[in-house]
This record gives sequence, structure tokens and C-alpha cells, in this order.
Amino acid sequence: MVLVDKQKINSILDSYGEKFSIATICSHSSLQLFKAAREEGVKSIGIVQRDKKSLYESFPLAKPDEFIVVDNYADFNPSDLVSNNAIVIPHGSFVEYVGEKVDSLEVPLYGNRASLVWERSRDKMFEWMHKAKVRTPKILKPEEISGPALVKFPGAKGGRGYVIVNSQNEFRLRVGDKKCMIQEFIIGVRAYPHYFFSPFNNFGYKTSHGALELLGVDKRVESSADEIARAVSAGMHPKMAFTVIGNEPMVLRESLLQEYMEIGKRISDVSFDLFGGMFGPFCIETIISEDLEIYAFEISARIVAGTNVYVNGSPYSGFYYNEPMSTGKRIIRELKSAAKNRKLKDIIY
Ligand SMILES: Nc1ncnc2c1ncn2[C@@H]1O[C@H](COP(=O)(O)OP(=O)(O)OP(=O)(O)O)[C@@H](O)[C@H]1O
Ligand SMILES: [Mg+2]
Repeated sequence: MVLVDKQKINSILDSYGEKFSIATICSHSSLQLFKAAREEGVKSIGIVQRDKKSLYESFPLAKPDEFIVVDNYADFNPSDLVSNNAIVIPHGSFVEYVGEKVDSLEVPLYGNRASLVWERSRDKMFEWMHKAKVRTPKILKPEEISGPALVKFPGAKGGRGYVIVNSQNEFRLRVGDKKCMIQEFIIGVRAYPHYFFSPFNNFGYKTSHGALELLGVDKRVESSADEIARAVSAGMHPKMAFTVIGNEPMVLRESLLQEYMEIGKRISDVSFDLFGGMFGPFCIETIISEDLEIYAFEISARIVAGTNVYVNGSPYSGFYYNEPMSTGKRIIRELKSAAKNRKLKDIIY
């Protein structure tokens, strides 16, 4: 879909002046965001499905100030948000439920909405990672399959429907000519670093257009993959699946930090060459092999749910801040200081 005109979003922001609220769909990392907004004195609006309202109302310190109740998440009216001076914080569920409609949505979105277009397409994402000279799993043609390979279908969420094949023959039998991307299956430990890019920072890891903070690292817990040893030792041969159930905290050995910050820097720098930059939180999904080689297989160009592990700060956020700093709180702080300095247009589209 065609992206809404940036001038249109700028004029909406002009009408807000310095006073803004934040809005998002009640899901994913919304409790973290609402709690942070509450602590920072910023009004918050939760777009909630009717049957989930009582849940979201039940958290006194993390409920939104106002609800917009809908039957279907994609059904909210952007003008209800604009009339509340709202800036939408897109998270994983927001991007998933609203889909391509997000491109033309006439409401200010924190970050650059072009980055959501790049994260939506697996081919674009790999182009971005390769331009950034980040190591990725090899992308294979069917005739190049000679060992375990992960076959990914377009738009699959949470790895749904992925197939692992071991040979060309198995690929032909189980996949056929369906549209897919075949990746070398990387064995190693997964790590999901949470970066925050600010063009305004005078601290953090310097990039060509600003600086990066590392606010945390998590590891996803996926079913059945992460518990499959039990089934195997019970004599079963289950298929590996990757349904995300939750997240666990993770701390990297310190000698890996330099390379992780370089990877984050290059992904950030290249985002400016490709589509005018990615602002605020992002995450790179990685696997570290036993030779300590880092492979990246996905970029999330927005807040990730793994940050929920660190609502009260992380082992890394404490290296930048003398107070508990979640990614949610970091976002609200960025918006507040940009509003004060009349720079919201630099970080919102
Ligand atoms: N090349 C690979 N080698 C080994 N494991 C992989 C590889 N790519 C993905 N995985 C595993 O599969 C899971 C799901 O993959 P991927 O992130 O591509 O799915 P997705 O549908 O984009 O999911 P989401 O949008 O929820 O991140 C990963 O979290 C990881 O555990
Ligand atoms: Mg993924």
C-alpha cells in the first residue's frame, strides 16, 4: 500500500503542539508502555477488544487512562486517536493485526513507518542485513539442500508452518513448488538484543546518525523446540515447532558485546541509506554458533515482546541510567524530550 504523505502527518503533529498522548493496541508490550506513560505523566489510550477490557482494567499501575473498545483490532477509527493528540506506538501485535493498512493510517506513528514495510518482507529484510554486512544463514536453492534446512513461508508468524527438510528429495515431497525461503538450519544459542536508536543522544554507541543503547537481551521460549529433549528421551519423534510461549532474560558474555553493538550500528546506518532511518527500539534475532559466530535471521523494526522481561530495567539499562529503564519508558522519555524541543517530526512518521 502507498504510505501516507509525511506532510499530512507533520500537519497533524503541528496541531498537537507540545501536548501528546500515546496509544496502542492492548496486547504484546502494551502493559509496559501504559505503565511507563503513567509514571511519566503522559496520557495513554488502549485500543481493546471488548472481551479483554476487564483484564486490562485490572492492573492499577499499568492500565491505560482511556479505552477505545472495538470488536476487531483493525477496526479503530484513526480520527478518534488524532482528536486525542495521540501518537501510536506500533508493537508486534499492532503490526500484525493492522497489517498493510498501517501504511496509509492517518495518525502519527512513533518511528519511521517505512521501516515496517521493510520488516514485513523477508526478502527485503535479508537485503537490508546483507547490505549491513551482517552474517545470516545461507539462503539455499532447492538443489543446494544438503543438510538440515528450514523452509519458511511468507508472512508466517511465530514460525507457524515452517518445515525442516534434510534433502532435495524431502523438499520436493513436503514443499513442492510453494513460495518459500530456504535457510540453512543454524545450530547454536539464540539471543535477541533490544537496541534503542536515538538521533538526539550524546551518549551510547555512536552511529553515523546518532547513538545506540543496548537496553536488554532476551531469549524466546518456543514450543515444542525448547523442550523437545524430553519427548526425544521418552522415545518420541515429534516435529520441531516454534510457537512463542514467552521470554527469558539473557546476559551475553561480555566479549560478544562489541560485535553486537557493531551489528546494531550497521543495521541502523544502512536503514538510513535504504529508507530514511529506523528510530527508537529495534531487535535483531540472532543465533550464536559454537565458534562464537553470530548469525542474524530477522529484524524487528519496533519494540519486541522480549522487552517485557525488563519492565523494571535490565542488566544493561543500568549501565546508562541510574533508575529502572524499560524500553517502554525510554520511548516515552524520547517523545517527551522531542516534544519539548519541537523535534517530534524527526522521529515520527
Ligand atoms: N536459520 C535458522 N536456523 C535455525 N533456527 C531458526 C532459523 N531461523 C529461525 N529459526 C527458529 O525459528 C523461529 C521462528 O523463526 P522466524 O523468526 O523466522 O519466524 P517468524 O514467523 O518470523 O516469527 P516472528 O515473527 O514471531 O519472529 C526462531 O525464533 C528460531 O528459533
Ligand atoms: Mg522471528
